[in-house]
Amino acid sequence: MEDFVYQAGTRVLFGKGQIEHLPEVIAKFGKKVLLCYGGGSIKRNGIYDKVYALLKDCEIYELAGIAPNPRIDSDREGIALCRKHNIDVVLAVGGGSVIDCAKVVAAGVYYDGDPWEMVSQGKQTEKALPLVTILTLAATGSEYDDGAVITNPETNEKIGYGNELTMPKVSILDPAYTYTVPAKQTAAGSIDIMSHLLEQYFGPDMTYLADQMLAGAIKTVIHYAPVAVKEPDNAQARGELMWTSSLACNGILSQGCGYGGWPAHAIEHELSAFYDVTHGVGLAIITPRLMRHMLNDDTLSRFAQYGRDVWGIVGKSDKETAEQAIDETEKFFTSLGVPMTLSALNIGEEHFDEMAEHAGRNGRLLHAYVPLSKEEVKAILHDCL
Ligand code: NZQ
Ligand code: ZN
Repeated sequence: MEDFVYQAGTRVLFGKGQIEHLPEVIAKFGKKVLLCYGGGSIKRNGIYDKVYALLKDCEIYELAGIAPNPRIDSDREGIALCRKHNIDVVLAVGGGSVIDCAKVVAAGVYYDGDPWEMVSQGKQTEKALPLVTILTLAATGSEYDDGAVITNPETNEKIGYGNELTMPKVSILDPAYTYTVPAKQTAAGSIDIMSHLLEQYFGPDMTYLADQMLAGAIKTVIHYAPVAVKEPDNAQARGELMWTSSLACNGILSQGCGYGGWPAHAIEHELSAFYDVTHGVGLAIITPRLMRHMLNDDTLSRFAQYGRDVWGIVGKSDKETAEQAIDETEKFFTSLGVPMTLSALNIGEEHFDEMAEHAGRNGRLLHAYVPLSKEEVKAILHDCL
């Protein structure tokens, strides 16, 4: 088992009505608040009005219109607002895109240069503004990790940025706030959660504990995602998905294990960068093809374990179990109603060369659990057509 240092510095307020604590949560940091949100879902479902009512004693400035696959321009705008109004605390209300954008604002205020330079070169800052989140979509885990993924449409790049100072100080997780998430987005979010778990499951030097926890979390998604898609206000399903999303991406489930390179994410971020694809939809298309590519003599027993522990396949050879497990994964994503080919999104092979080049940058995929060359990434993308 590998050595590790682990700290999850976020205070989580989970459950119905936890938003009532917002005034005391914010008061700890000050009165001047930058409220970050997306295209308006929080106005339609009442959270926006609730925030204003609760923060009536605060001075609120707004960074609105943060797009899915958030753009660096929103960060530039947010940083300017923080500097102009001397903001004390950043409040992100939304899904992963809003929270990610808010993280880069929180750190970028203290970065002496353009935030794209900070993101693309992974520059750290000495300070960051405190970040509080109110999660409205179970998917990325951004509410409980220190990562952010930002897009630069001018360069067709989508890049992950990590800065432990941007770990949310407090995250308010009320599953009822996800009842209004449309079925397609619920499906995409659930696939994202499952992908975070799979990216850790297929890694080197796994521990017995991690195997049990990851398999359990994957089974939770398989059990509850179809329920939430069909019954958007099912409290149990929304709650279980929300907490699983938070646990899936901050490393807690695979401490002590090796790093597998997160290849599905590396490839998917290229689809989002070039075509603005919904993250979870891109992952659904890539994952089964990637898995078939990863299946070889060295990984066979791991895929067979996945088939037995997650899909309950018994009485078959390792090869049959592994292949069936990948088929079951694909069938599960299909059953959630997301498009399962690039052609269905009108995406052709025009940019595969650049996408494969970008996906492999930093050499991370060459050292993945199953190493992937640029040509192999292109082959996987071809299989997705
Ligand atoms: O913009 P609004 O109007 O709020 O609508 C959003 C958006 O259109 C809508 N939505 C959110 N909550 C809703 C709702 N609609 C109705 N009711 C609600 N309660 O859903 C749409 C998608 O929102 P978005 O925030 O983009 O989705 P998600 O949470 O899946 O975030 C995706 C982004 O996070 C990145 C992805 O790459 C992508 O850019 N990721 C971030 C990670 C991290 N920070 O750790 C890890 C992930 O792997 C991922 O890469
Ligand atoms: Zn993801």
